[in-house]
Amino acid sequence: MVTSSRLLAAVLAAGQLVAAVQTDEYDYVIVGSGPGGGSLAANLALKGHSVFLIEAGGDASNSTVERLPQLSSIAAETPPHSWQFYVEHFQNETQARRDSKYAYLRTNGSYYVGLDPPAGARPLGILYPRGATLGGSSQVNAMNFAWAPDNEWDYIAELTGDESWGHEHMRRHLMDLENCTYVPRGTPGHGFDGYLQSSHSDQSATFASENVARYIAMMFRRAEGIEVEGNAHMVELLDRDINRIDEDRYETPFLFGIPNAISPTTGSRSSIAHHIRNVIDAGRPLTMSLHSLATKVLFEICDDGKPKAYGVEYMVGEGLYSADGRYNASKVGEKRTVRAKKEVIVSGGTFNTPQILKLSGIGPREELEKLGIPVVVDLPAVGNFMQDNYESPVLVRAQVPWMANATGPCTRTFDASDPCFVQWEATGDGPYGEFGATFHMTWRSSVSWDNDTDLLFLSIAGYGGLGFYPGFSSRASRLTDWTTAIVRMQTANPHGTVTLRSADPRQAPAINFNFFAERADEDLQAIADGVQLLLDVYDDVGIPYEVIAPNPQIDRKQALMDEAFSHHAVSTCRMGPAGSRDHCVDSKFRVNGVRNLRVVDASVFPRVPGAMPNGPTFTMSRKALEAILEEQ
Ligand SMILES: Cc1cc2nc3c(=O)[nH]c(=O)nc-3n(C[C@H](O)[C@H](O)[C@H](O)COP(=O)(O)OP(=O)(O)OC[C@H]3O[C@@H](n4cnc5c(N)ncnc54)[C@H](O)[C@@H]3O)c2cc1C
Ligand SMILES: *[C@@H]1O[C@H](CO)[C@@H](O)[C@H](O)[C@H]1NC(C)=O
Ligand SMILES: *[C@@H]1O[C@H](CO)[C@@H](O)[C@H](O)[C@H]1NC(C)=O
Ligand SMILES: *[C@@H]1O[C@H](CO)[C@@H](O)[C@H](O)[C@H]1NC(C)=O
Ligand SMILES: *[C@@H]1O[C@H](CO)[C@@H](O)[C@H](O)[C@H]1NC(C)=O
Ligand SMILES: *[C@@H]1O[C@H](CO)[C@@H](O)[C@H](O)[C@H]1NC(C)=O
Ligand SMILES: *[C@@H]1O[C@H](CO)[C@@H](O)[C@H](O)[C@H]1NC(C)=O
Ligand SMILES: *[C@@H]1O[C@H](CO)[C@@H](O)[C@H](O)[C@H]1NC(C)=O
Repeated sequence: MVTSSRLLAAVLAAGQLVAAVQTDEYDYVIVGSGPGGGSLAANLALKGHSVFLIEAGGDASNSTVERLPQLSSIAAETPPHSWQFYVEHFQNETQARRDSKYAYLRTNGSYYVGLDPPAGARPLGILYPRGATLGGSSQVNAMNFAWAPDNEWDYIAELTGDESWGHEHMRRHLMDLENCTYVPRGTPGHGFDGYLQSSHSDQSATFASENVARYIAMMFRRAEGIEVEGNAHMVELLDRDINRIDEDRYETPFLFGIPNAISPTTGSRSSIAHHIRNVIDAGRPLTMSLHSLATKVLFEICDDGKPKAYGVEYMVGEGLYSADGRYNASKVGEKRTVRAKKEVIVSGGTFNTPQILKLSGIGPREELEKLGIPVVVDLPAVGNFMQDNYESPVLVRAQVPWMANATGPCTRTFDASDPCFVQWEATGDGPYGEFGATFHMTWRSSVSWDNDTDLLFLSIAGYGGLGFYPGFSSRASRLTDWTTAIVRMQTANPHGTVTLRSADPRQAPAINFNFFAERADEDLQAIADGVQLLLDVYDDVGIPYEVIAPNPQIDRKQALMDEAFSHHAVSTCRMGPAGSRDHCVDSKFRVNGVRNLRVVDASVFPRVPGAMPNGPTFTMSRKALEAILEEQ
């Protein structure tokens, strides 16, 4: 793998030199190839515009770790697929260190994770992975493809006064990008000719375990008032679609299997990287520069005094960023620049977009001046107002296994000696062709701010533990455990920050989510309501169990605060009314105060778009395509 990606780098580097001689100017220069930037680059090129796409990582979309859904956590923890940021959840150090996932570096260089660090260990914070590969985090994420509640799109329309953000328009963009494979072709509200496949997992295996079937039946009764008629009935009910067009789809709580961005024919991650490759192979004017870390956007001053973006400076090399597991400070990249005839588009994701903007002189004046960065635009919204979902693990351990022993013939070595792997490679199905939780559910807590449900549950029987820390991807599972992640939607705590530690573009920024700084009562109450529902249903089932999380020894809300985690960060370049200094971009994605510069990625969402940002970010990228083409 290392050898082949080095080879690829060398080939690309050689190709790049030739390109640089012939032309160093493209219509659009895009930084970052995730759901925001990667789709936009491919789609602009399909419309005939020349595009130069700068991506820090390489193309590993054919690797087993990025393709095989069950290896997604490995991809999220392993270079060259991902970057490992360490973030803080709180300013209050005492509170921060109450999280059992808090990581430290021991004096001998190994990690310690937990509540009782050895003397001299250096606090690192909470691990927060991000994809750093062609396709961005969508190549390492959990592939859950749930679309935002209509109310979230309508909120953006209202905030910006731009009704083209209304949910009917956004649905059109979803239909353009989706290749839905789990409802009949022609079903209203879904697309069938797009580049991102969505599928449902086969839920019937779930019910092979009698104890799991009992729990789900009891949950149907409590959550929906449905008395189920056996397992087949439950399988049928779980086939209901959270992405259906009905405007009330988030209003009525219900159990379902979540759509996944997985191809049903190959059993592999459906990948924007493949769309990008297809566009290049079709001869469209898309040029990629992989293993390239953008270091700043370049500006010139127009006659009227307004700054205008005209290009990007970047460094070529592998593992150049300090959050990369391969980082070595003494290895330097080769510096290059590229010019944009029309526009520069920054799509580095919620942590890197504000970093790139600040390095380029767009951000809060005081912070930039302290580091000696010349201020192009004093824009306080950059790197501020970060928000996220809270995700809370609820873990119970029973005296008997929840799950039947489902080891089957799989050896989990994922090579020719593993019959399940051989089957998956050949046909895309078998045990490795299935992916997903035991069930999902939406639920309305006592504090929802509208008529929608405000919690989304992902429930995994036979699995213990959630959240990120060094080694999370090799967490062992027990058949007696059952973990449910309660994802809180409707969080509106805008106090997260991404601030530069240094003017060196290779150094990851300081990231603090300032969890529960605002609306703590509502958020903790909502999650606590969800915990109670889950425990009531375990009681209904009647199998003896103990609660492992949230810690039953202490106050429930304190326990939830201690262990909440997140991985859906948004809003560090939030969208809002044009010209507002408390907002970073206008409704057409244009960065306030400069010309020819847009931001298109999850950082522009003014607040979390429901429970799952991946589908909404892909959708928003289509919206950006339309906005850009309309201005031609
Ligand atoms: C482990 C994990 C699990 C997740 N699970 C889900 C899920 O199941 N469902 C869901 O909806 N969401 C999930 N998410 C979140 C979702 O993947 C992200 O919200 C989404 O990918 C954001 O897209 P983006 O385009 O904003 O940024 P990203 O996808 O992060 O892409 C940014 C890209 O920019 C590149 N880049 C950054 N800085 C530079 C630079 N200076 N120069 C060049 N390139 C640069 C990066 O390498 C990366 O490729 C998950 C995320 C993670 C990490
Ligand atoms: C990925 O695999 C496909 C299908 O085998 C192949 O066409 C393509 O060239 C591969 N891409 C890379 C980057 O190796
Ligand atoms: C910091 O957090 C601890 C633990 O939650 C709490 O007891 C303490 O009051 C907090 N301190 C401040 C200043 O808020
Ligand atoms: C570092 O110390 C820990 C705790 O004593 C030990 O478990 C670990 O193996 C050591 N690691 C190395 C690399 O020496
Ligand atoms: C959509 O998905 C189906 C099922 O995998 C596949 O056969 C079809 O070719 C896909 N369509 C497009 C446009 O990619
Ligand atoms: C970092 O790179 C330098 C220069 O190539 C090399 O000498 C050194 O061994 C590397 N350090 C590590 C930890 O790999
Ligand atoms: C499951 O089956 C495997 C193979 O038969 C066996 O090694 C393992 O101990 C079993 N596990 C449990 C929890 O029964
Ligand atoms: C909730 O639904 C009721 C009944 O349909 C409606 O009257 C009310 O306006 C809705 N409230 C919100 C906040 O949408």
